[in-house]
Amino acid sequence: MKIKKLIYPIIMALMIFGCSSSSTEDLNDQNPNPDPDPDPNPITKVTYDADIKSIMSSRCIGCHGNPTTQGAPFSLTTYNEVKSRVTGIISRIKSSSNPMPPTPNSPLTPAQIELIEQWQADGLLEN
Ligand code: HEC
Repeated sequence: MKIKKLIYPIIMALMIFGCSSSSTEDLNDQNPNPDPDPDPNPITKVTYDADIKSIMSSRCIGCHGNPTTQGAPFSLTTYNEVKSRVTGIISRIKSSSNPMPPTPNSPLTPAQIELIEQWQADGLLEN
């Protein structure tokens, strides 16, 4: 009889405090949506390996190779080279007075130019 009278309130107390503390803390401390959307854009981001390298290879490294040829001032054969020069690259591929590749080579397509600009906007990812 005595034991029952003691155990019952203890169990009740454990249930109440156990439940209340864990439930309120969980609601307050935990982000209800800890991983909202790691990639909100279903379209994958532009990366050097997937998108940019092939443009450089087909249109630029004929001169900006390693070693450079035809008076090109630097090579564009690695991720770091292209990344560090992206601002200059974008301005020259969009230039009509001083374009890259130089005339009489055809300019990059609007889609290729857009891809390089999107690469910059996406944070110049390597892969
Ligand atoms: C036919 C050879 C040739 C090709 C192809 C070529 N370039 Fe050039 N590039 C040059 C030469 C020569 C220069 C230096 C003279 C000048 O700036 O116009 C140069 C200069 C540049 C410069 C400016 C350097 C500076 O800081 O002044 C950039 C940026 C550049 N090229 C990017 C590119 C990109 C990107 C491509 C491909 C889309 C490309 N080039 C294709 C020959 C080439």
